[in-house]
Amino acid sequence: MSVSLVILAAGQGTRMNSDLPKVLHKVGAAPLLHHALQAGRALAPEVTVVVTGHGAEAVAKAAREFDPDVQTVLQSEQKGTAHAVLQAAPLLEGVAGDALVLYGDTPFIRAETLEAMLEARKRHAVVVLGFHAADPGRYGRLIAQGEVLERIVEWKDATEAERAVTLCNSGVLAADATMLMHLCAKVGNDNASGEYYLPDVVALARAEGHSAGVILCDEAETMGVNTRAQLAQAEAAFQSRARAEAMENGVTLVAPDSIHLALDTVIGRDSVIGPNVVFGPGVTIESEAEVRAFCHLEGCHVSRGATVGPFARLRPGAELAEDVHVGNFVEIKNAILDEGVKVGHLTYLGDAHVGEHTNIGAGTVTCNYDGVMKHRTVIGKRAFIGSDTMLVAPVTIGDGALTGSGSVITEDVPAEAVAIGRAKQVNKPGLATKLFEKLKSIKANKAKGQE
Ligand code: UD1
Ligand code: CA
Repeated sequence: MSVSLVILAAGQGTRMNSDLPKVLHKVGAAPLLHHALQAGRALAPEVTVVVTGHGAEAVAKAAREFDPDVQTVLQSEQKGTAHAVLQAAPLLEGVAGDALVLYGDTPFIRAETLEAMLEARKRHAVVVLGFHAADPGRYGRLIAQGEVLERIVEWKDATEAERAVTLCNSGVLAADATMLMHLCAKVGNDNASGEYYLPDVVALARAEGHSAGVILCDEAETMGVNTRAQLAQAEAAFQSRARAEAMENGVTLVAPDSIHLALDTVIGRDSVIGPNVVFGPGVTIESEAEVRAFCHLEGCHVSRGATVGPFARLRPGAELAEDVHVGNFVEIKNAILDEGVKVGHLTYLGDAHVGEHTNIGAGTVTCNYDGVMKHRTVIGKRAFIGSDTMLVAPVTIGDGALTGSGSVITEDVPAEAVAIGRAKQVNKPGLATKLFEKLKSIKANKAKGQE
């Protein structure tokens, strides 16, 4: 049966004390919203709607960045969760199947949990995800008999006896899409908050003769982010889960606690990641690659058998083909390094293409920026760039060419040519000794003057 997602993300998140809408704060280098979208994506949703409000434009942009097919709808006033769901009604009109409601600020719901909820839909018209809370605080309480759910009562409206219940509402809910919209339209706001509560659809469904059920999950899955402290806790929780997953997938993490992964990090089997490596967004590492200690990677691709670091930085657009070696204090940005290229030390390659098996000497710099525009450097196959070569772009170095150490290359170099772009060396016999003697006597005279 098909399913559509409604992700609530209109709230401001006052307790974050931030100009940024809450769902755009990041965990694992990705907005919280992306985590909710990712969990939902595993269900192959028919339609995905994100309900926006505070910072609507920025939130909508982030939603489309995750998947251009995601739709957004504006809830211009935050009148409650049922009112928020109702905003998605026009976009779900005529869409058959279930609707699943998720929160944009709840990043850890597992796809398996959502699948269990959809499975339970065979038994109940409305299925709510619940959990036993260690500290139930102000969560809505689930009034249930086993799997059968009677109603949900918000903390503010609950009696003392109801507040004593520890079975809580996660907020995640599934129902037939058409029925859900019908029920949300019936929800009133005669309650302690004056809000339209989504949880009220449970009692309304039962009043219409339908059944409601509760599926349980681990409390850790329902963790929401409301404060910076919770954001830090969420980051820690994400990291430990992502590290464990990487190791299960056959990746060696030498010092797991020191490695930071992103939501979309992909690392192939038998790759080895050294201590203190940070993965920003958009990194894929193939199998049997090695990233040594203290590297920072984002928006890059490292192919099988390549080695990176220690102390290397791969920036967006860095593409390393098989068996490339990038060594210490090397920065690569928007550059393709073909198979077997070696860039051992102290180098910057930006806006460049380096042909296979070329060797880049220590201290090479592509001078790609003239203060206004960026320019490309193209280096052929099996070339040899001498140490401390400045490649003033735009410039092309032919296959098999060689540049002399310390050269400033401003013109193209033909294939197999040697290019030397530096002042010619002059040797002055005996001059060093004379120079030192002179300097020593100056120093001695100065010391006398100070006595
Ligand atoms: C809600 C539930 C509560 C549950 C708790 C779990 C209701 C009335 N209560 O309470 O039973 O235990 O979540 O965390 O649903 N939102 C909108 N538009 C609105 C209101 C909210 O988009 O008009 C979004 C918020 O941005 C947030 C989510 O819905 O992502 C939940 O809203 P929030 O106000 O945090 O609900 P709680 O009071 O936590
Ligand atoms: Ca909340």
